[in-house]
Amino acid sequence: MKKGNQRKHETRDSWHVSPEQKRPPPPKVEPPKRIKVPPMPAVTIVPEPGRWLWTCRAGFEAQLWEELAWGKKNPFLLGPGLVSSDPFTGENPLPQPPTFARMGFMISDVVRTPADAAASLPDEPTKVQVWVPDTDVANARSGEAAAWEDTIAAIRAEEGLVDPETPWKASEAGGWLGQVCLIGPGVAVVGRVRARDAISLSAGGRARMKRTQDAPSRAAMKLDEAIDWYNVTPGKGDLCVDLGSAPGGWTRRLVERGARVWSVDPASLSPDVLKLPRVKHFQESAFDFTPEHPVDWLFCDMAWRPLEVAQLLGKWCRKGYAAQLIANIKLPMKDKLPTLFRVRHTLVEAGWKQVRMRQLYHDRDEITVTARRV
Ligand SMILES: C[S@@+](CC[C@H](N)C(=O)[O-])C[C@H]1O[C@@H](n2cnc3c(N)ncnc32)[C@H](O)[C@@H]1O
Repeated sequence: MKKGNQRKHETRDSWHVSPEQKRPPPPKVEPPKRIKVPPMPAVTIVPEPGRWLWTCRAGFEAQLWEELAWGKKNPFLLGPGLVSSDPFTGENPLPQPPTFARMGFMISDVVRTPADAAASLPDEPTKVQVWVPDTDVANARSGEAAAWEDTIAAIRAEEGLVDPETPWKASEAGGWLGQVCLIGPGVAVVGRVRARDAISLSAGGRARMKRTQDAPSRAAMKLDEAIDWYNVTPGKGDLCVDLGSAPGGWTRRLVERGARVWSVDPASLSPDVLKLPRVKHFQESAFDFTPEHPVDWLFCDMAWRPLEVAQLLGKWCRKGYAAQLIANIKLPMKDKLPTLFRVRHTLVEAGWKQVRMRQLYHDRDEITVTARRV
């Protein structure tokens, strides 16, 4: 990681806060005890109807499993990218739904043909999504998933059912997302979830964002997905601070959406981004930066220690520097869950409201956090 965290005394603090407010104590709440994750089964196990099926980024099954175990949901590792659990209601030490889940639904059936899948889906308006877990082996069967989806759509049309064309239309109309997960060749787990309650409207939670030709970094796609998920868009007239902004993918996207951006990073911005209107680069550590006046949005994609980043974001809330937050928190450590628990508590203790955390499709060893101050 880059060395950029040498905090100096603040000199531009116009809010006149007491010294003890400047460095918050670490959160007092301890994370739940660790639970030993069982080994991954050699062959994918078919889950039982009545349980929930969850999918996650391949390699993060243990995190999802432990999160569900913390919530006492009796999780079971099924195979790469797949975990099952008891029905998902009630309390959980981490936010609901689980941070590491891309999609989840109640299993109604396990079937072997598209016709059986169609018979198991609701007669009410349903956008049917057939998907495979996001692993190399399963992705090789995505052609089979597309063929199932076409056959199911044809069967439903023959039955005279009128389905919404897109998941977004299903959500607007209060309809269902029919879920068909091909967990192995010719074996599918079927279920449904109200589109409005779904973790994601994208099949299998894979919210692919379009890569624009002139974006300076792939990080821009992470931001687009995060904004879609938050469902409020920074726009014309908004003032955004972008912490850890170089080379400038997020800053560019925010400007393209009409916002003004104070872009903070000790590293250089790409010359294209520097040339954009409404961008001001503060070439300094985010730990030293103090805004001249409160702003609308705080964005943060700093490659720095998660707990220190969380404390910095907490300070921004306590001091009323920003109204809304979208941050990407890096989690390179093996034990991610205790860190995530502390990050969440730091943000909540600092006063951030509606704190949501999710490993989005474009997130790798990291998660996205959104929150608002009021
Ligand atoms: C993943 S990159 C950000 C990419 C950026 N969001 C984009 O779209 O181009 C992480 C950045 O965090 C910056 N960083 C690390 N420590 C920092 C600090 N203390 N203050 C500000 N930026 C920091 C690094 O210089 C690096 O540019």
